[in-house]
Amino acid sequence: MSTGRLDGRIALVSGGLRGIGRAICECLSADGATTIITDLDAEDSPQVAQALEAIGNASYIALDATQEDAWIAARARIERDHGHLDILVNNVGSDLTGKVQDLALADWRRLMTLNVDTVFLGTKTFQPLLAKAGANTPYGSSIVNVSSIMGLVGMGDVSAYNASKGAVRLFSKSNALEFADAGVPIRVNSIHPGFVETPLLHQGMERWAARDGCTAQELIDAMAETTPIKRLAQPIEIGKVVAFLASDDASYMTGSEVVVDGGWTAR
Ligand SMILES: NC(=O)c1ccc[n+]([C@@H]2O[C@H](COP(=O)([O-])OP(=O)(O)OC[C@H]3O[C@@H](n4cnc5c(N)ncnc54)[C@H](O)[C@@H]3O)[C@@H](O)[C@H]2O)c1
Repeated sequence: MSTGRLDGRIALVSGGLRGIGRAICECLSADGATTIITDLDAEDSPQVAQALEAIGNASYIALDATQEDAWIAARARIERDHGHLDILVNNVGSDLTGKVQDLALADWRRLMTLNVDTVFLGTKTFQPLLAKAGANTPYGSSIVNVSSIMGLVGMGDVSAYNASKGAVRLFSKSNALEFADAGVPIRVNSIHPGFVETPLLHQGMERWAARDGCTAQELIDAMAETTPIKRLAQPIEIGKVVAFLASDDASYMTGSEVVVDGGWTAR
């Protein structure tokens, strides 16, 4: 049921077909936004058809968020169809665990490309359309970058992911200041989820378990146990906070880091 707080707003979410990105699309649309879901899948794939059926008021663009030309092509399409963009959610990201001595440079670079380059490219490409929308919106347009609690605190065997998500946190703050100083009407905030039940989390735990000689379920149970509220998050619990940050309800928020972690970093 739409609350209407995003009525008339145009939103783009990278990596929006699954996991947290999918839930973000659902929440933005539920609040009234016209949501452009982007992901790797072909436009005629069953996954896309299912998402468009389930999420009202949405369209889809195939967009590999690591490719600058794909971002530029998406911008041309959105400029033609909508003229501006109100909300950009840079959600694409992946994980990588392992001890520094065991990490390959190619894997490190692949992670930085997925987690950091994608945020830079989305921001750079869409800044002009976001600024245009922001000039006609009381509290500006909104960029939300998906970081992690692993962008706030370190963890053994997580150095590459820690480094990438820490970069997203500070890139967001720099942008917020750069835009505010120059009078560019775009608010920029980062969100820091704890452990969220998604395909990424399950795949990552399978790999970690294979290395450590335990089961993925044991690792997931341990995550829940170390979380103060004793459970993992559902993606929708992240999506709702992103929709808030995207809306005028967050009108005085820019450069903020919003933690949604069941109390994990409160200790
Ligand atoms: N799951 C967690 O516990 C958790 C916690 C904190 C932060 N995060 C972050 O949240 C974000 C989403 O994670 P998730 O768990 O939903 O992941 P996921 O793997 O379940 O879903 C990611 C989506 O992004 C898409 N994608 C991957 N590479 C892409 C590319 N190059 N271009 C476009 N789309 C691409 C995938 O197809 C998929 O639909 C990531 O940035 C992740 O680091 C996740």
